Amino acid sequence: MKITIVGAGKYGSTLAHRVAMADYADELVMVDVVEGLAQGLALDMNQARPIEGFTTRVVGTTDYGDTAGSDVVVVTAGKPRTPGMSRMDLLTDNAEIVGGIAERIAQHCPRAVVIVVSNPLDEMTALFQRASGFPTQRVVGQAGMLDSARLADKTAGAAGVAPTEVAAITLGSHGDTMVPVLSKLTVGGKPARELLDEDTLEGLVRATREGGAEIVALLQSGSAFYAPASAASQMVQAVAQDTGQTLPACAWLTGHYGIFDVYLGVPVALGREGVRDIIEMELATDELDALRRAAEAVRDKQRDVDDLV
Ligand code: 2OP
Repeated sequence: MKITIVGAGKYGSTLAHRVAMADYADELVMVDVVEGLAQGLALDMNQARPIEGFTTRVVGTTDYGDTAGSDVVVVTAGKPRTPGMSRMDLLTDNAEIVGGIAERIAQHCPRAVVIVVSNPLDEMTALFQRASGFPTQRVVGQAGMLDSARLADKTAGAAGVAPTEVAAITLGSHGDTMVPVLSKLTVGGKPARELLDEDTLEGLVRATREGGAEIVALLQSGSAFYAPASAASQMVQAVAQDTGQTLPACAWLTGHYGIFDVYLGVPVALGREGVRDIIEMELATDELDALRRAAEAVRDKQRDVDDLV
């Protein structure tokens, strides 16, 4: 099993460390344009192996030739937001970066399953698929896992329970048209609506939608990476170990939920072939409407990226 992570910034390197420590890959390649960055981090991670007891060989490189034949590729490269920016403000700059990476990955890793995490997420996932020419099934985006975790953590805080007591799922876009699914939000197995009033729930939805910006504003430089890396690492594991686990992810829809031909966040069963299945969960009418509105909002933007490929 060979896994490549493109981008050795905080997101990429934190993810690399998690994947290497999970120890199911023979080789983990980190590729970055900055000379020495991925190489230095790889040395450092390898030197943790005798202490932690993992055997995955970590390789740092600037050369895409070293990624050849990877089974799974995660694209973390691109500029992060600065305070006050929306993810969409990154569109043009990151389209150029992600488009270039897609061409190189198509050349060196033609059979890989690709997980995109660069922002704006839904658009960069669509762009990678178009620029690589890969089947849609083999290109997915990470956002739903992260947004669901944010909703779960904030709900746990409001309800005064451990975060593990909360089950949460968000669908739709990784942006303004995110759809936190309140009808499926549970605390200790009970519907959250039985424990928390509507104002509190609305506050949680808002806080989840703004969860990324909240961290960007505090950091002043860079964006979140611990929870995003945890989210991506679960997706990598589902693919690498062919678990078929159902996770919220950005996937190509061909009529699911009555939505056609757009990349959008939905529950997806992930395995070695990429998207094994898209799960159509039962949604309340307002949630389904919100999901369809999200589809229309991202569809226009995804059309725009066609011009950038
Ligand atoms: C976030 O929401 C980086 O988009 C990512 O934090």
